[in-house]
Amino acid sequence: MFKRLSLFLIAAMLIIALVPVVQAQDGGEMMINCGTDEEVTVIVGTDTVGTQKTLMEEAYAEFEAACPNITIKPLDLPESATDRISLYLQFFEAQSSDIDVLLLDVIWPGDLAEHLLDLAPYMSQEEIDAHFPAIIENNTVDGHLVGIPFYTDAGLLYYRADLLEKYGYDAAPATWEELTEMATAIQEGERAEGNAEFWGYVWQGNAYEGLTCDALEWQWSSSDTRIVNPETGEIEVTDPAWIEMLDMAAGWVGTISPPGVIGYQEEDARNVFQQGNAAFMRNWPYAYSLGSAEDSPIAGLFDATVLPSGAAGHGAATLGGWQIAVSKYSSNPDAAAAVAVFMTSEAQQKHRAIVGSYNPTIGSVYQDAEVLEATPIFGSLYDVFVSTVARPSTVSAPQYNQVSTLYFTAVHSVLSGDEDAETAMTLLELDLAELLGE
Ligand code: GLC
Repeated sequence: MFKRLSLFLIAAMLIIALVPVVQAQDGGEMMINCGTDEEVTVIVGTDTVGTQKTLMEEAYAEFEAACPNITIKPLDLPESATDRISLYLQFFEAQSSDIDVLLLDVIWPGDLAEHLLDLAPYMSQEEIDAHFPAIIENNTVDGHLVGIPFYTDAGLLYYRADLLEKYGYDAAPATWEELTEMATAIQEGERAEGNAEFWGYVWQGNAYEGLTCDALEWQWSSSDTRIVNPETGEIEVTDPAWIEMLDMAAGWVGTISPPGVIGYQEEDARNVFQQGNAAFMRNWPYAYSLGSAEDSPIAGLFDATVLPSGAAGHGAATLGGWQIAVSKYSSNPDAAAAVAVFMTSEAQQKHRAIVGSYNPTIGSVYQDAEVLEATPIFGSLYDVFVSTVARPSTVSAPQYNQVSTLYFTAVHSVLSGDEDAETAMTLLELDLAELLGE
């Protein structure tokens, strides 16, 4: 009995030693679990889009200050999600310990689970339950929590409120046709006034995961179909309303959108919009805080809303978002898991929401007055965040990445004028059937 008690005391002391209390960025105190008291280095895949690198590195410094035995080494990840998964697959194939902690897109748990650690044992049930249950479910594969939610994302339509007013429009476009008309008129007007660089609409047209997101919004809003039906597993890419919509989008290239849009990723679109050279932009919430920054030419002149409706009678926002995961091949899994738990904590999510407009995955953060003041879209866009369309990653796992690659390649061939939408989608249907064995 005595022995058991002393073992318990030793264990308790160890836990206390591993959990320093530090001052969190928002002024409150928080406990940081270091995971180990050994001297170790943890290599953390670090985002390079927008403000992410700065934000993540600030968090590493906070963690290291609380856990001086742990050094965090950032590994800069490519901007494109498609390039990130290729990089991860190289590490995993080699069972490499050169990356410990990684950013996991919401679509990858099913594809990558076999290489990831179950993080549930490193968290209390209360910590897990604080996150949106749908994301926890998405990240749970065969009972293993393979990624802790970091932030969630949804596609938005950004628009220049000042230009809408200038050209006599009293609301953002309700339909894709209206968007096309408004973008055409504003572009003509702004060019006539001397801004030859001005474009109506910028978005993500490069052949990568981002195009799958944009195109799924066109597809779902026009036809209520979504590549692979998540309930039945049926391939759905040839609905006539979607084909018509895709031809319409191809018509934007070189008219209301720059010819180069078919090489654009998120940051390319944001740069054009933020410089004041576009009327409309499709992007994720992170662009809101950057566009509102003091040095932004469009600060105070723009807003964000639901993307336009297509023939299905509603708009659509692709569900995005990132998780923090730990590689199974890590040599320091305890320290790596501690970093993942810290990065996804409520205090971090609140800070990231305020300074970077990254959407928390912990519901309570949305009620925080400071968060709502810094990023009012979190309150006003509630409808967008609850009516998102998910990519068919669970139903097609572990082949989602291949499904998406076939899809964005086919869509890109239409945007670049190599194929008409009907031919491209008919061929895509055959390719998907072969891949998925139907
Ligand atoms: C955003 C989304 C992510 C998506 C990516 C595509 O980062 O959060 O889910 O896959 O954009 O570019």
